[in-house]
Amino acid sequence: MKEKVNEIKSRIKIDLNVDDLNILNDIKTKYIGKKGIITELSSMLKEVPSEERKSFGMMLNEVKILFNDTYESKKQELEEALINKKLESEKVDVTLPETDITIAPAHMVERVIEDLEEFFISMGYQVVEGPEVEKDLYNFELLNLPKGHPARDAQDTFYIKNDEILLRSQTSPVQVRTMLANQDKTPIRIICPGKTYRRDYDDASHGHQFTQIEGLVVDKDISLAHLKGTLDAMARHMFGPNCVTRFRPSFYPFTEPSVEYDMSCFNCGGKGCNVCKNTGWVTIGGAGIVHPNVLKNCGYDNEVYTGFAFGFGVERMTMLKYGINDLRVLYTNDLRSLDAFRRKDV
Ligand code: DAH
Repeated sequence: MKEKVNEIKSRIKIDLNVDDLNILNDIKTKYIGKKGIITELSSMLKEVPSEERKSFGMMLNEVKILFNDTYESKKQELEEALINKKLESEKVDVTLPETDITIAPAHMVERVIEDLEEFFISMGYQVVEGPEVEKDLYNFELLNLPKGHPARDAQDTFYIKNDEILLRSQTSPVQVRTMLANQDKTPIRIICPGKTYRRDYDDASHGHQFTQIEGLVVDKDISLAHLKGTLDAMARHMFGPNCVTRFRPSFYPFTEPSVEYDMSCFNCGGKGCNVCKNTGWVTIGGAGIVHPNVLKNCGYDNEVYTGFAFGFGVERMTMLKYGINDLRVLYTNDLRSLDAFRRKDV
């Protein structure tokens, strides 16, 4: 028995001298696993005559310690080697030239929206959003556009479910939602930016999806003068201190009276150029005094409350601001043209 232990002892270092962690583990099993040679010798301890048992036990213990120590240090050595090999293969060459990463600025349409949001917030407005999938009730009906009304033709859109659920053709339904939700009739001053949809053929000035900003003020004694002052302030903010607006009579079912509003051409200052088609004015959007029927539909006493509303296309405003003559530049996302136009900001 003792010879066997000695023999094992002499083999430990040789056997454990391997260069692979898996093999090392196999050897561990061979020595001290359930059926390992050291394990088996230990179980035979009770068969050793009692006078030799103590010294044999001590021998066996020494072998065990030798095995464990040798195993642990080999294991550590192999693990370190593995990590070093990995580090070597993942080495980063810090002398290589850096990659040119540019962080893209926000899209021009988004910048115009954010700029106008800040402007209106500074005048005490709140920014409100509404769903793009809208009820016919809010997009048309409560805005004084009953089914069959001819003014619906200009706003034909995409229907989702029967005639009742559609992609909103304008941001005006957010007016309705806001008024209906305002139970205690506190003054309303909101703008609603968002996507809108129409059944339109895409060309240089039309898109089946575009962005609008809607404005609504409801309070007591609101007049066209307030509307004019507000739109003048917005024009000056967008196009400089000399920009003015003008109203032209128009028709919208949700406002009475209704107007279309133009801004004096920022490009020629009103003298006439190709941007304003020699008229000195550029058309921006529609507006008016909220129709009494709309106030009533939304739970307001139209003898007590009045309001003004306006709406315009953000893409159009963006095109004017950045001198873009084709709407498609804004959504085809050719980075070269987007980049060329937005350089005007810096
Ligand atoms: N919703 C109209 C459109 O898409 C624009 C508009 C006109 C909005 C007059 C208004 C308004 O709030 O009062 O053509």
